Formats: sequence, structure tokens, C-alpha cells
Amino acid sequence: MSDLESIARALVAPGKGILAADESTGTIKKRFDSIQVESTEETRRAYRDLLFTTEGAADYISGVILYDETIRQTATDGTPFPKLLEEQGIIPGIKVDKGAQPLANAPEEKITEGLDGLRERLNEYRELGAKFTKWRAVITIGQEIPSQYCIWTNAHALARFAALSQEAGLVPIVEPEVLMDGDHTIERAYHETARTQHAVFTELHDQRVQLEGMLLKPNMVLSGYDSAAQAGTDEVARTTIKCLTHNVPAAVPGIVFLSGGQTDEAATEHLNAMNAIGPHPWQLSFSYGRALQAPALKAWRGDPSNVAAAQEAYLRRARLNGLARSGEYSPEMEERVAA
Ligand code: 13P
Repeated sequence: MSDLESIARALVAPGKGILAADESTGTIKKRFDSIQVESTEETRRAYRDLLFTTEGAADYISGVILYDETIRQTATDGTPFPKLLEEQGIIPGIKVDKGAQPLANAPEEKITEGLDGLRERLNEYRELGAKFTKWRAVITIGQEIPSQYCIWTNAHALARFAALSQEAGLVPIVEPEVLMDGDHTIERAYHETARTQHAVFTELHDQRVQLEGMLLKPNMVLSGYDSAAQAGTDEVARTTIKCLTHNVPAAVPGIVFLSGGQTDEAATEHLNAMNAIGPHPWQLSFSYGRALQAPALKAWRGDPSNVAAAQEAYLRRARLNGLARSGEYSPEMEERVAA
């Protein structure tokens, strides 16, 4: 097995998934605003310190995605964050895209930037301890969108990122996120997600990306958040699996879903339902940001005396998602499972 393949497999080890803690400075500010905490380099460090020093997290968390600022920061005891994670058996990774910008000639659509100079940045991140990378493309559903143009330019960029990452010895997490904002039906979400995944795997193939040494980070296929008709858990699970079965080669070792604005309970329940109707050709796991962190953020509120309660809240979500990896979660556990 190649090094890339063994890292990819370790990231989707049974019972475990990924913590996405790679919020950009702008995004983490929004999260901190929601708990009335000022976003400074030190509050951001203290918050990430809380997450990364949670005892027992390594039982459910295989890897953590860091942000450029965070990979250079240290824990309170002076240990660099990547080393702190490695010491617990958690694999450090890094977000390498530079965010989504307006796509020329395509009002309301976006293209993710960050390819210029990427080869050099990847080498630096590897030196800093990263073993894997992430790039997020954003696809919006609207009346006349997504356009073929937006889907294929983003797919092309994702594949360029993936090829460069593998060249640098880093496992790419390829994230084409079709947003679930809007009042579209689940059928429409299926159609646009399938178009997107088809384009992404065509580009990955054309650009010679080794499928065994990458992971896919897709959205789940849901009814639009503003749709009057909300598909239930079983329909979400079956529709998402159908989309992946049609579009994702079995050579890909794992699929790590984003939570994308679902409640933390819904994100866990949907993952659980998909694993309960397995086996599937790929591991089905999580790479959640909001759905893993929301209760911890709320418990913390920037107060050092709340760190233990926040760590407990994070560990609990990690454990429940760990159970969803094998279909062993049930919503009743929300009441009674202590971490
Ligand atoms: P969410 O789970 O909050 O969607 O974040 C995952 C992520 O990394 C988005 O790029």
C-alpha cells in the first residue's frame, strides 16, 4: 500500500472521523460573534487548544483539519499544535484553498482560488507536520444555476489541487459542496450533486489523481433548508447513497461528509442511517465543523472556567458520531449517553 493510501485509510478507520477546525479568520469571527467572544489571535488559539487537548477525543477523531494560522500556533504548554495532535495519534491536516470568489461572467456563482504558489505552500505545510490537505468548492442551487461553467471550472481546480497534494506526499480531501440553502426539492439536490460529482471525478481521472490516495468530502443530499417538504432520514440516506454509488468509484477509500448547516443531531442521524444500510464500497464517515463544535462553543463562551464543560460537550458529539460510523447510534442516546 502506498503512503498516501495508508494515510487515507487511517483517516477513515472504523469508529472514527475528522474534526474540521479550519475556519478562516472571517468564519471563526462569525462563530465567536454568536457567543459574544472577541476574535483575537489568542482567543482563537485558546479555543483550538480546548478542542485539541480534549482527553479521549482520539478514540473517535482520526484527524483534524487546521487553518494556516492554527498550524503555526502552540498549545498552552508550548507544544506546536500539529505535534500535540500527533502525540495523541490524531493526524494533522490543513485547508489550503484561499476561499471562494465571484466567478467572472457568472453572477451569483463562485470559484475557489489558491492554486498560484500552491506547490511551495504544500511543501511548507508538510514541513510543519501536515499529512493531508483540503480544498472546498462551493456550488449554489438557484433558478438557473449551477451552470456547467461553474461546475467544471471548480472541478478542474479541485483536481489540480488534488494532483499537487499527492505530488507533495499529502492526501487530498476533495470537497465539492453543493449548498443546501434555498427551497429546492431533494430531487433537485440529487440532480445538482450528481452533476457536480460526475464533473469532479472526470477531472480527477483526466489529471491522473490516484483515487486510492484521496478522500471525497461531499454534501449530503437534502431538501433545501427553506423547502416546505422536508425529506425524512431514510430518504436522505437512500438518495445520498444512490448519488455516491452512481458517481464515486469504489477505489476511493472513504467519503467524509461535511455537515453544511444541519443541526448536530441531524448530521449524526443521517450518517448513522447511511451506515445502517451498508455495506458500501467506501467507508462512510464525517468531517464535521459546526456539527462537532456547536455544543462546545456554546458551553465555552470564552470563559476559561467553562473549558472542562466545553470539552465534555465536544467529546460527547465525537462519541455519538463515532457510533454513527457503524449504524449503532440512536436519537434516544441524545438524552442519556455521557461521553
Ligand atoms: P461544516 O461541517 O460546518 O459544514 O464544515 C465542514 C467544512 O470543513 C467546510 O469546509
